[in-house]
Amino acid sequence: MEENTLDTVISMPRIGDAAPEFTAVTTQGTINFPEDYAGNWVILFSHPADFTPVCTSEFMTFATMEDKFAKANCKLVGLSIDGLYSHIAWLRNIKEKIEYKGMKDVEVNFPLIEDIKMTVAKKYGMIQPNEDSTKAVRAVFFIDPAGIIRAIIYYPLSLGRNFDELYRVIIALQAADKFEVATPADWNPGDDVIIGPAGSCGTAKDRMEDSDIDCKDWFFCTKKLDKEAVFDAVLNN
Ligand code: BEZ
Repeated sequence: MEENTLDTVISMPRIGDAAPEFTAVTTQGTINFPEDYAGNWVILFSHPADFTPVCTSEFMTFATMEDKFAKANCKLVGLSIDGLYSHIAWLRNIKEKIEYKGMKDVEVNFPLIEDIKMTVAKKYGMIQPNEDSTKAVRAVFFIDPAGIIRAIIYYPLSLGRNFDELYRVIIALQAADKFEVATPADWNPGDDVIIGPAGSCGTAKDRMEDSDIDCKDWFFCTKKLDKEAVFDAVLNN
C-alpha cells in the first residue's frame, strides 16, 4: 500500500542518515544491504536503463576503475529499473562488443541490482518524477563502513558522471575522518587541508601564532598534509 504513495516515490535519504536497508537480487547473487558491506565504504549508484549509451560509457569507466576503488576499501553497487536477464545481456554485450576510449573487453564484476518494482529506487529517492517517472536518475550515495550516508550526488539522465570526482570524494571523506580536517575547494591529495573553525578566543590566538599552521585570518587556517600520508591512511585502512 505505502509502496505506491507519492511520499514513498520522493522519499530522499539525507547525509548522516543510516543507509535504508534492503535485500535485492543482483548480477552477483542476492545482497543484504548495507549489512553485507559492513566495514567497507560503498558507492551505491543508479543509472536510467540498460542498453543506453551514456550508461554504457559509465559502466565501462567504473568497471575499469573498480580495483582503484577497492584499494581505497570501497565497493561498488549499481542499480537500474530493469530485470536480471536484461542486466546480464547488457553486461555480456559490453564485454563482447563495445570498445570505447581505449577500454575494451570490459567485465563488470560489481553487483548490478535488478529493481523492476522500483523498491530500492524509491527508498533512495532515485526516481525523480519530473525528470522521469520510470527511470532512475544518476544518483550516487557514498556510504561509510558503519552504514551511514556521508555524501550524495545526483545527476540528470543526460549527464554522464565524472568518475575521477567520485574517487576524489571517497579519498577526501576518508582523509577528513582520519586527520580530523576539512578539504577546501578542488582539494586533491597533497593539497593543504582546512582546520575546523576555532571554538574559543584562546584557540584562535594559538593558531595565529603556530608556525605549522597557515592562517589567512583566525577563521581560515590551513596546514600541510602529505599526499603519501593520505594514501597511507586510506589505502591501508
Ligand atoms: C543514456 O544512458 O544514454 C541515457 C539514458 C536515458 C536517457 C538519456 C540517455
